[in-house]
Amino acid sequence: MQTSRCVVLVKPDGVQRGLIGEIIHRFERKGLHMIGLKMIALDDETLSDWYVEHKDKPFFGDLKKFMSSNPVVAILWEGIEASVAIRNILGSTKGREAAPGTIRGDFSMSKQYNIVHASDSAEAGDREQKLIFKDDEIFPWKKMNLDQIYAPDEME
Ligand code: CMP
Repeated sequence: MQTSRCVVLVKPDGVQRGLIGEIIHRFERKGLHMIGLKMIALDDETLSDWYVEHKDKPFFGDLKKFMSSNPVVAILWEGIEASVAIRNILGSTKGREAAPGTIRGDFSMSKQYNIVHASDSAEAGDREQKLIFKDDEIFPWKKMNLDQIYAPDEME
């Protein structure tokens, strides 16, 4: 199976609450492959593209204001079905309903202030990586232990 890419954002509330390391740790120990990492202040134009599917929702303005309130940390991950694995670790959107053991289940009480974002598909991952990372900010280094993470037939 082919790998795909998924962008994770540690949102302003996750940065403020000192959860950057905790969040990265959860994905690293899962076996995901980090190929990009940066702190970035999201501007209005990028956020309008990023949240284009929410542009007609009543919370769009508040969402953009929140997401630009302080820098976020963007991490580009690669793996087989990366967005599926990552979104399971995130938990459901509303933090107070998210399952214990997930990031939102452990750290969030809110629907909007829900600590992390992740691309919801391989296609979204490709689109979002282009909005955040320049080509020379992506490092597809060879991870030496992939044969311990995936069975041989999964890597064909
Ligand atoms: P995420 O799934 O990362 O991307 C869309 C975001 O919109 C979502 O996280 C929430 O932070 C936010 N969101 C979704 N629904 C609502 C809502 N009803 N009110 C406010 N914010 C919302």
